[in-house]
Amino acid sequence: MSRLSQELEAALDTLSKAVLSQPVDKTGASKVSIRPLQSRGGRAFQVEAIRGTQAFHQNLNAGQLMELFQQELDGRFRQALIVTETESAQFTLKTNGSYRRTASAAVQRPGSPRGNDREKRYLLEEGEAVPALVDLGVFTPDYRIVKARYDKYRQINRFVELIDQAFRADPRKEITILDFGCGKSYLTFILYHYFAVKKGMAVKIIGYDLKKDVVEHCNAIAEKYGYTGLSFHHADVSRDTLYDQRVDMVVSLHACDTATDYALNYAVGKGADYIFSVPCCQHELNAAMKKGGELDVFLRHGVVRERMAALLTDEIRTLILEDLGYTVDVIEFTDLENSPKNLMLRAKRTGRRSHAGRDLARSLCARYGFTQTLLELTEGL
Ligand SMILES: C[S@@+](CC[C@H](N)C(=O)[O-])C[C@H]1O[C@@H](n2cnc3c(N)ncnc32)[C@H](O)[C@@H]1O
Repeated sequence: MSRLSQELEAALDTLSKAVLSQPVDKTGASKVSIRPLQSRGGRAFQVEAIRGTQAFHQNLNAGQLMELFQQELDGRFRQALIVTETESAQFTLKTNGSYRRTASAAVQRPGSPRGNDREKRYLLEEGEAVPALVDLGVFTPDYRIVKARYDKYRQINRFVELIDQAFRADPRKEITILDFGCGKSYLTFILYHYFAVKKGMAVKIIGYDLKKDVVEHCNAIAEKYGYTGLSFHHADVSRDTLYDQRVDMVVSLHACDTATDYALNYAVGKGADYIFSVPCCQHELNAAMKKGGELDVFLRHGVVRERMAALLTDEIRTLILEDLGYTVDVIEFTDLENSPKNLMLRAKRTGRRSHAGRDLARSLCARYGFTQTLLELTEGL
């Protein structure tokens, strides 16, 4: 067995990833990544080979992986990287066909100031080939996290982890998802990767945003990688006609102010089974609230008023969703250090409806002199 094969075999128990790059000829894959699979029933690995703009995957046990590695991969790439939980080692192919260890370092997660983050495993691991994330500037060309994008990387990972939890017991094989206020669409591309590539489902995902140039850019990236189920539309979600077929899930991540209400209203109107929504800049109540009762104590200082208005907005949204047949959790989807807007409304449709929440929300509106967009939009539903 060659040195590189020995190194890989010795690393398998604690492997985070292995990456082979710079092929010696153009006949095979331009890059191959190996990573342990999340769901382990015994040790299993996913091998991803990039050919042209396409990624090909196979899941193998340790024996099959070593067989493939020795027969087809060892010696065919000029650079090899093997990362375990403790060490990152780089190997370079010599002219005699053997590999030389050219660099090694203790593993430390980039951008992470705290030790406990080093042990954190992500659903989307650094090194996993998601070429669209390179185009979007989250990954470097060798699939390392761009340091300035580390916060966004953690957000989208956590978002998808929560979706993964919800979908472990869900048997569906196809899914339609709408992303409201998708912006640069890091989350949208990751959702596509998670459902289409990792879970192998038939996927239709549509992202909506006000920014035409960003929408065009995202469509160009989706087209470049042949992501036929993924498209982006230039639309104002508060006004424009949106997708009119069945929708399984609605997501929004920091969609501004009342754009979140339009997302939630659309989701309940369509009877979407899942909603994952992280609201942002809840200005509506903050601008309109007047003194009217016990909550006046929160209106005395601007910063307190702003936070209380944001929390009240999200609670009213939660009440309305519950009335309209959803169970809702409000969870901290990431820590405050990562984003001050870190509350997620996570809703699952049950179909059991009531009116208690709407009545409470109405009385708050009357007492404190504000209106709330989701409450208005869902009147009569
Ligand atoms: C803070 S960005 C978040 C983008 C993305 N979801 C993310 O987390 O990276 C909010 C996005 O919502 C979009 N947006 C705000 N109001 C909208 C509306 N009425 N219709 C469509 N998009 C909207 C903005 O253009 C912006 O790209």
